[in-house]
Amino acid sequence: MALIAPSLLSADFGNLQRDIEMVNASEADWFHIDVMDGVFVPNISFGFPVLKHIRKHARKPLDVHLMIVDPDRYLERFREHGAEVISVHYEACTHLHRTVQAIKKLGALAGVVLNPHSPVSLLEDIIQDADLVMLMAVNPGFGGQSFIESTIGKIVALKELMARKKTEVFIEVDGGVTLDNAPLLTGAGAQVLVAGYAVFGSADPAGTIAALKKL
Ligand code: DX5
Ligand code: ZN
Repeated sequence: MALIAPSLLSADFGNLQRDIEMVNASEADWFHIDVMDGVFVPNISFGFPVLKHIRKHARKPLDVHLMIVDPDRYLERFREHGAEVISVHYEACTHLHRTVQAIKKLGALAGVVLNPHSPVSLLEDIIQDADLVMLMAVNPGFGGQSFIESTIGKIVALKELMARKKTEVFIEVDGGVTLDNAPLLTGAGAQVLVAGYAVFGSADPAGTIAALKKL
């Protein structure tokens, strides 16, 4: 049974508190928070003023996905804003080892994210330090895109790397997750599933979360 992290990117921002309360009352495990800077990805989402209000209402851990360049500048503030998981992109960090250590020193779980084009082998010398690896199953920047199938093979490769390095990380998958492909992902070894459009775009978001949880 995977942890389910609904992505607020697909929530109704005009009714954010309502959607947060829905997640609070649901079987979801984490809130997935997508922060985009318009530089690392071709979209801008939201920053601290909104996160402050999310935190006020959210009753589950905040899983913060930073799609920003030079995330080191803001790690401390994200932690102060309640982030319990902070994930940074391999592609955005020149000194990833230092960034991962900085996140852990702040007392958060440190996640490393790979874009669809980045092979799992890039994690060879960082996996021992990370708490979580998130595999993007879409090119980051937007909700509601279609799932890139090669992600399944990357979950398998990640499990092989973990076994070879005798270490364990949470395996999270982000992008294009649906009720249809979720069983393939958990079957391959994914432990945390992010779902944005599949949840908030459905007629019964809490029911969809419950259905994802049952798979
Ligand atoms: C994409 C974001 C995802 C997105 C997932 O850049 O990182 O978290 O919200 O949304 P869906 O599930 O709609 O693909
Ligand atoms: Zn995300």
